Amino acid sequence: MPALARRPPTPVGKLSTTRDNLRKSLLSWYDQNGRTLPWRVRGRAADPYRVWLSEIMLQQTTVAAVGPYFERFLARWPTVAALAAAPRDELLGAWAGLGYYSRARNLHAAAQVLAEQGFPADEAGWRTLPGVGPYTAAAIAAIAFDQPANVVDGNVERVISRLRAVAAPLPGAKAELRALAGELVTAERPGDWAQALMDLGATVCTPKAPKCGGCPWMNACAAFAAGAPETFPRRPTKAERPRRYGAAFRIERNGALWLVRRPDKGLLGGMAALPTTAWRATKWTRAEALAHAPAEGRWKKVGAVEHVFTHFALTLDVYAADAAPGGNGWWDDASALPTVFKKAAMAGRE
Ligand code: ADE
Repeated sequence: MPALARRPPTPVGKLSTTRDNLRKSLLSWYDQNGRTLPWRVRGRAADPYRVWLSEIMLQQTTVAAVGPYFERFLARWPTVAALAAAPRDELLGAWAGLGYYSRARNLHAAAQVLAEQGFPADEAGWRTLPGVGPYTAAAIAAIAFDQPANVVDGNVERVISRLRAVAAPLPGAKAELRALAGELVTAERPGDWAQALMDLGATVCTPKAPKCGGCPWMNACAAFAAGAPETFPRRPTKAERPRRYGAAFRIERNGALWLVRRPDKGLLGGMAALPTTAWRATKWTRAEALAHAPAEGRWKKVGAVEHVFTHFALTLDVYAADAAPGGNGWWDDASALPTVFKKAAMAGRE
C-alpha cells in the first residue's frame, strides 16, 4: 500500500491544548483583535466605578446597545458619589430603553453602599451588593482589581463548550463548564484574560456561523475537529414563549402624555408607564379593558403593539382618548418610558 494514501491527518498536537499554549494564543489574539470599548483600558487595572457600571449595563445587553448609555451616565454622574446622590427616578429615566429595569433600581441601591463604604477589593465583597451576581463580581475583581477570578458568562460557556466539546446540555452543564474555564485562569493578566474570552465569544465564536478561520483556538477546538462547532453548547429543545395580553391607555394634552409610575415590585418595577390593565393569558374585550381606564372618555382603539420580554411575549392594545385623568400621575413626553410604552405612545401614528 502506498504510504502517502494512508497517511493519517496531521495530529492536533497535544501541546496546543495545554493551558499555557491556549493562554498564549488567546492573549496574543486579544492584543491584536480585542475590541476598543469605552470602559476598557489595557495593561493595567481599570477604574472600579466604570467597570461596575459597565458590567451592570452589559448584563443581558449587547456592547452596541450599552455604549451610548454608558457615556451618558458617566457624563451625568462622573463618580459613584454623584450617582448615589441622584434622585432614583432620574436614574430610572436615564436607563429607559436599556431593559431589565431591576438593574437600574439595584444600581441606585448599590451606589448608596459604595459611596458610603468605598469599593470592595475582592469578589466576595462585591457579591454582597444588590444586582451583583457571581459573574459580575468575578468580572469586576478581574478587570478592576487584577484578581484571578473565573469569569463565566454565556459567551464564555459557549466558547468552552466548543473548545472541549462538552456533551452535557445547558443548564445542567454549567458547573462542568465553569470548572473547565477555571483550569485556564492564572494570576497573569486576569482582566485581559476575562475580556479576551468575552471578545472571542462575541466576535469569533458566535452562536450562529462561528468564524473558525479567524480563531486562535481553531486547532485546539474539539467541536471544530468534530465538524460541528455551532451545535455547542448542547441545549434541551426550547419551550415556546407564552403570550400575554393587556391594554394601555393614552391620554394626551398639549403634546404631553399622562404617565403613571409602575409598582416597585414586578416587571418594569418603578418605571414610568402609560396606565394599563393587568397582563394576562387571555385577550381583553373592549368592555373589560375599558373598566380599567384611568378616566371616563370616548376611548378609541388606535392600534396594538407587540413586545417580547424574557419570559413572555406581550400584545398590548392601545386605547386613546381626550380625557381628564385622576389619581397619581403626571404629564411628560415619552423619553423616560421603557421601550414597550414608547411603542404604545407611537401606535396608530405611523
Ligand atoms: N460583556 C460583559 N462584560 C464585558 C466586557 N468587559 N467586555 C466585553 N464584553 C463584555
